Amino acid sequence: MLAPAMVVHGGFRCAAVMVALICCSVLCAGVATFAGEVSRKQIAVGKRLRRVNKPALKSIQSPDGDVIDCVHIAHQPAFDHPFLKNHTIQMRPAFHPEGLYDESKLVSDSGAKEQKTILQLWHQNGRCPKGTIPIRRTKGEDVLRATSVKRFGRKKHKTIPKPRFADPDLINESGHQHAIAYVEGEKYYGAKAIINVWEPKIQQFNEFSLSQLWILGGSFGEDLNSIEAGWQVSPDLYGDNNTRLFTYWTSDAYQATGCYNLLCSGFIQINSDIAMGASISPISDYGGSQYDISILVWKDPKEGNWWMQFGSDLVLGYWPSFLFSYLADSASMIEWGGEVVNSQPDGEHTATEMGSGHFPEEGFGKASYFRNIQIVDESNNLRSPKNVGTFTEQSNCYDVQNENNGDWGTFFYYGGPGRNSDC
Ligand SMILES: *[C@@H]1O[C@H](CO)[C@@H](O)[C@H](O)[C@H]1NC(C)=O
Ligand SMILES: *[C@@H]1O[C@H](CO)[C@@H](O)[C@H](O)[C@H]1NC(C)=O
Ligand SMILES: *[C@@H]1O[C@H](CO)[C@@H](O)[C@H](O)[C@H]1NC(C)=O
Repeated sequence: MLAPAMVVHGGFRCAAVMVALICCSVLCAGVATFAGEVSRKQIAVGKRLRRVNKPALKSIQSPDGDVIDCVHIAHQPAFDHPFLKNHTIQMRPAFHPEGLYDESKLVSDSGAKEQKTILQLWHQNGRCPKGTIPIRRTKGEDVLRATSVKRFGRKKHKTIPKPRFADPDLINESGHQHAIAYVEGEKYYGAKAIINVWEPKIQQFNEFSLSQLWILGGSFGEDLNSIEAGWQVSPDLYGDNNTRLFTYWTSDAYQATGCYNLLCSGFIQINSDIAMGASISPISDYGGSQYDISILVWKDPKEGNWWMQFGSDLVLGYWPSFLFSYLADSASMIEWGGEVVNSQPDGEHTATEMGSGHFPEEGFGKASYFRNIQIVDESNNLRSPKNVGTFTEQSNCYDVQNENNGDWGTFFYYGGPGRNSDC
């Protein structure tokens, strides 16, 4: 109901521009051209909003300003995809890999807390009914912040950390910096990690800071396949500095396919509790309480779809196998860690933080971490990864240190403040 109202609003703005156009004489042809461009953009934004915002059965106002629309599961954006016209939704995975760790025990052992009741801020004001999925409503201003209407919801080209081939010139060019752990050289069918949640400070509007896992297929060419999930702070994408749960996928190295969250058709959501792109609450305190989220992505060996689970038991949904080329078989590399954009404001390194904004040396309670890192192997079992490598472009700005112990299995601390006297 509310989505069409936004379209009407777009129409009103358009009408105002038309009036301006009519009042304008030949003398202000320049202004008329500008107004024409504005109205074309408004129309494109309106079209985009109609496509991405689906009619809601119920809408929930979140304290952070978001509106969460509860959309009938069969009306979600995925079903705009021509290949999904006759798709029968899988309401549960045919297969679920068993982990090495007892998750309920893990939380109490680590000293970190996992919030059981409120996971996302909007839960304070209601829940979505059964048979619907929660979708963060896209506003006109969200689309207008993107470099173009077409690029809205998409990552920029070639931002994947490429440890073995890291070319310093390319690193400087793209401005993206990473501090990650990774494995390669086998066939992987999934990955899991418990990720500590923070709210890193972002210096410039066009920068972001994220912490995620990457499931990669292909050889970093134009056809790279990627499935990504984690948390991010991205003023450009969301209009604020909140820490949000996100997913991403592409099957052509961020060119024409894929997007964040449900901003294009692809991911099929089945869960009515968790909204992609919604704020996570609570966040860890420096020197105080630590909060974790758990993310598992795995390939169902029967149907071939890639599934995602959030927390110990919330199965969110799946990416159908046909979206991918390499990942239709398996992944060739898994990465875990942080990424920031360094746009070199004032010609200096950005002060945008990664993770907690502190270096790994500071350890638990102060540095950010990924723990109990696992991969899904060829026999579809979760196990500790072997031969974990680490990579960072400038360790004086953001660093990573991996370790091993009984409770945390394979884990690493990562992050940093960015700009400082050594960076
Ligand atoms: C969907 O089903 C209809 C009717 O059976 C068929 O004509 C159409 O080709 C199918 N579309 C796809 C994408 O499979
Ligand atoms: C990036 O560029 C800066 C300034 O041009 C240079 O000082 C620095 O060494 C470069 N970094 C790498 C990793 O090449
Ligand atoms: C986000 O943080 C930056 C500084 O880190 C601040 O300048 C900006 O106003 C904040 N934006 C919002 C929407 O709070």
